[in-house]
Amino acid sequence: MRILYAADYNEMSRKAANLIAAQVILKPDCVLGLATGSSPLGTYKCLIEGYEKGDLDFSRCSAANLDEYCGLTKDNDQSYAYFMYENLFKHINIDMANTNIPDGTNADAEAECKRYDAAVAALGGVDIQLLGIGHNGHIGFNEPADSFAKGTHCVALTQRTIDANTRFFARREDVPTHAYTMGIKTIMSAKKILLIASGAEKAPIIYEMAAGPIVPSVPASVLQLHNDVTIVADAAALSVLLEKAPELVEGAPKA
Ligand code: F6R
Repeated sequence: MRILYAADYNEMSRKAANLIAAQVILKPDCVLGLATGSSPLGTYKCLIEGYEKGDLDFSRCSAANLDEYCGLTKDNDQSYAYFMYENLFKHINIDMANTNIPDGTNADAEAECKRYDAAVAALGGVDIQLLGIGHNGHIGFNEPADSFAKGTHCVALTQRTIDANTRFFARREDVPTHAYTMGIKTIMSAKKILLIASGAEKAPIIYEMAAGPIVPSVPASVLQLHNDVTIVADAAALSVLLEKAPELVEGAPKA
């Protein structure tokens, strides 16, 4: 695991985008594993700029997203399909037919999870998987558990997540209670993994992920077992690691 220092969110975003850009340049028909949330927004902006400048061509790339809420259609502004279209896909020249995301409208969870695993496998696997990290160490929707979930599966959202999402929906009954997510095995099968983190509230979990034991109660700790993981995190997110294990961080200014 390599852990690269960035001064702030913007530098984290530029570094992460440069690593993804390198993948697209070196392998124009690569498979990009993508994430939603606030962490990747700056990275996606930088990739869009790279495309607009003529430096990046996504026409032969494919994409596979980590997760999607159950029950939401692609045009629902809370769906991850909508997020990806609005924040990346519509701004670059990726062929939408080559983008993949679990189908939240398929009520048959078993069939949908099987279909999604087969779709990712048919792409030949993910070349570079972009990840954010939850405060509790979740990656995708793989929440702390007693064991590592393997393939794509359906998760029941915690009451805390459901309550937090209520503000985005007109009616409480419209708030999703379940989501489909790639499993830990699917994520770990990516050839390269790039995890980004920003902000002091991520600092304790970044330390646990990188320097703590590998346990399913901290799902991201499993990344220590992958042989090509790069973490790009900003100074605030690295603050605990820099204090307790500074030798693990590359590029930090000398104290
Ligand atoms: C998003 C996802 C989540 C987020 C994580 C961090 O597709 O799978 O695991 O990466 O919750 O979210 P942010 O970036 O909003 O802090």
